[in-house]
Amino acid sequence: MKYDFDKVIDRRNAGTQKWDVAPGELPMSMADMDFEAAPAIRKAFEERIAHPNYGYTDILPEWYEAYMTWWDKRHHWKIEKDWLIFSMGVIPTLSTSVRKLTYPAEKVCFFTPSYNLFFNSSVNNGRFVKECPLHYENGEYSIDFDRFEEYLSDPQVTLMVLCNPHNPIGKIWSREELQRIAHLCKEHNVTVLADEIHCDLTDPGCEYIPFASVSEEAADICVAMLAPTKAFSLAGIQTSAIAIPNRFLRHKVWRAINTDELAEPNILAAVAPAAAFLHSGDWLDEARQYIYDNKQYARAFIKERIPEVWVVPSQATYLLWFDCRKITDDSQALFEFIRKETGLVLIDGSGYGDGGKGFLRMNLAYPRSQVEDGLSRFEKGIKAFLTQK
Ligand SMILES: Cc1ncc(COP(=O)(O)O)c(C=O)c1O
Repeated sequence: MKYDFDKVIDRRNAGTQKWDVAPGELPMSMADMDFEAAPAIRKAFEERIAHPNYGYTDILPEWYEAYMTWWDKRHHWKIEKDWLIFSMGVIPTLSTSVRKLTYPAEKVCFFTPSYNLFFNSSVNNGRFVKECPLHYENGEYSIDFDRFEEYLSDPQVTLMVLCNPHNPIGKIWSREELQRIAHLCKEHNVTVLADEIHCDLTDPGCEYIPFASVSEEAADICVAMLAPTKAFSLAGIQTSAIAIPNRFLRHKVWRAINTDELAEPNILAAVAPAAAFLHSGDWLDEARQYIYDNKQYARAFIKERIPEVWVVPSQATYLLWFDCRKITDDSQALFEFIRKETGLVLIDGSGYGDGGKGFLRMNLAYPRSQVEDGLSRFEKGIKAFLTQK
């Protein structure tokens, strides 16, 4: 490998949110990477910082070029320049769009278990959540389309948030599934916010399919939320794009972004996408391979040493989703026990909706030595939990 993903970075005293934990604890929780960013990105930042003026900044032509080229070449979706809007982040876009595209007391629908901030962005903005539980059978998830359609036919459901690929289960939705989602949402007049922030973190050889690219129906109702931040170790930079083919919808979201003043980049947010998408593709491909190897290592380790835990099969993200219900349904107690006993900090699935109870999530975007450390702590924690039960 050209890049060194084995290198351990000390993030403890760098104001890092995830590493604000007690001495000796190992956080494999919040979704950011413990890798150095790609050299081309660090160079672009250094050059920008070397310029001694840090005044208000603008979106430059290469920002557009970066998104358009990347999605065309990597993901086979031709984004037109006019469709693109800068936003300070995916969750800020989600929150402001919830307020602009729905009325109070209406409902936002999404598949659960789901990334917890989908709940926050809906409820904090005065809307209800309509959880559409994914069907879970034989340790794998699928969409129950009958139930989904029943939920969409509730006239109070006016917005859907689609996580593609899906956090926390790491599933890439197929073209057929996306076409069916689009068709049903269109039929029931439901707008789709497609959160595609994890799209570049697919396993080697696997491709995600942009929701808006699957049909005219999808393009017509889609607000695509895109970013380089998850995949390129840039989570704190606050940079994202919104791509909206439908003119009317685009105008609405553009107004929302400008009303909440999310439309202007900081100096690093402005340069990050070009440095990532135009100059760091080879780094990303190595990172994907490294993460995939970590996931394979973790799966084998757990199968052999902690057979009580089921690792849900996945093809994307650097997250693994553990079904711990053979051990307990109380994942919060399990999470707390493991943390106290071993210092390993995971994410308790019960914050991810009803279907998340009894599950834990582990982030695998770490140097291998830390993954090994995390897994042996996990084994120790589970064994001690079972002994005291
Ligand atoms: C599905 C999903 N969407 C959005 C975000 C956060 O996006 P941003 O930092 O751009 O607000 C995360 C972070 O974990 C995520 O997993």
